[in-house]
Amino acid sequence: MLIRRASALSAGLILGLACAPTEDPPPPPEIAWDEGIRLKLAEDRSADPATVEIDLQARVARVEIAPGLTPELWTYDGALPGPLIRLHTGDRLIVHFRNALPDPTTIHWHGLRIPAAMDGAPGFSQPEIPAGGEFTYDFVVPDAGLYWYHPHVASAQQVGAGLYGAILVEDTREALPISEAAVLVLSDLGLGETGELLPPDSGGDVGTLFGREGQHVLVNGKKRPELRARSGVVQRWRVVNSAKSRYFQLGLAGHTFTVIGADGGWIEAPVEQERVVLAPGERLDLLVTPQGAPGSLLELQWIPFDRGFGSTEYRDPETILDLRLTAPPSEPPPALPAIGREIAPLEAGGATAVELRLTQEQRDRLVLGINGVPSWEAEPVMARPGETQIWTITNTMDWAHPFHLHGFFFQEVDAVGVPLRPLAWKDTVRVPIKGTTRVLVKFDDRLGMWMFHCHVLDHADAGMMGMLMLGSH
Ligand code: C2O
Ligand code: CU
Repeated sequence: MLIRRASALSAGLILGLACAPTEDPPPPPEIAWDEGIRLKLAEDRSADPATVEIDLQARVARVEIAPGLTPELWTYDGALPGPLIRLHTGDRLIVHFRNALPDPTTIHWHGLRIPAAMDGAPGFSQPEIPAGGEFTYDFVVPDAGLYWYHPHVASAQQVGAGLYGAILVEDTREALPISEAAVLVLSDLGLGETGELLPPDSGGDVGTLFGREGQHVLVNGKKRPELRARSGVVQRWRVVNSAKSRYFQLGLAGHTFTVIGADGGWIEAPVEQERVVLAPGERLDLLVTPQGAPGSLLELQWIPFDRGFGSTEYRDPETILDLRLTAPPSEPPPALPAIGREIAPLEAGGATAVELRLTQEQRDRLVLGINGVPSWEAEPVMARPGETQIWTITNTMDWAHPFHLHGFFFQEVDAVGVPLRPLAWKDTVRVPIKGTTRVLVKFDDRLGMWMFHCHVLDHADAGMMGMLMLGSH
């Protein structure tokens, strides 16, 4: 950061001296407000404005996450996170994917309501893509929101090694006059003393039970990067938690967050919160108005969140992003329109009840499951097109779990089946320690096998995963 700023500054000075010898040198070029966190963008090679066609390669690469810290990671296109894919609702996305990793993989498009054949579930929607293999993903993105992509083979290891990226789907009807808008991909990396990736089974069963967190917390692939903020000017942060196990509870001292969106885009109406929590897989759309003296720093903090023993004991908040305040603009920023989406509440009347208990057992190793059965022994949950189901997810364990269903949005409901306000489309919900979470889901006609699982990926790989068979049987 510092080095980059210094060289940008001297480049400006040199330019100034070279092209305007008789006048005062022009001021050094402004550092772009998001320079410290800017994501690599996926390059669209389609001439059709309604199609985004990209090449994407999974490969091992060295990536600098902090000055002097350049671990060898598993990446999409050599970047951490992988390139940001930007689209508009209704666009077609074509991804020419090549697996240059040493192991098989797939890509799952987390949250997108696409056909099962494009969902990246190995053994169900497609075979694993072998090392050296290729696959073309091709689908239409129906819904505005922030989504993400990641592998679904050895997920804990592969996501933990750096394979994840964000997909931003925008709807022009929901545009906001905010110039400082950024996608923030939150994650972490577990590295050993010489900077190598920790083995995926580090800590044995205890590591699996807790879910392995990396000690290096990253925002857009960087340790504690810096963002600029004009005091009093609202910023929009589209945030996704791509860590394999870590929950992110965020706080910004003296400030609040206005939550305007969740997993599946805008929520019914904004909510102001002092802290926000994102479990692995969850997304939030946030408005933040940094205030303070020009030159001062505001610290965005990760705050320990109780997801079970080991998550809060002896752990302190950690600054994950610095906001460097600059002077407020001379003109006030444009006023924002009313924000919110009309969302029809789902009806619990007539819904089929499905009970899912999140369980653990000790075999020769720790095995997690749903209704006492690990994924490799489970029978699928059955559903029909047009059917509404109410899923009661009961956590029997002393650790919390984020529960994710592929391919469909749902609404979280209370104990009697009434959707929680403000209404929101979700695909990942938190199931608290020894708690129960209920969701209502209405299936459309995208037949096939769909996965659901805990998004603490060590838990999913240990068996906390199941299948939904949507058929016209
Ligand atoms: Cu991000 Cu199977 O999910
Ligand atoms: Cu879990």
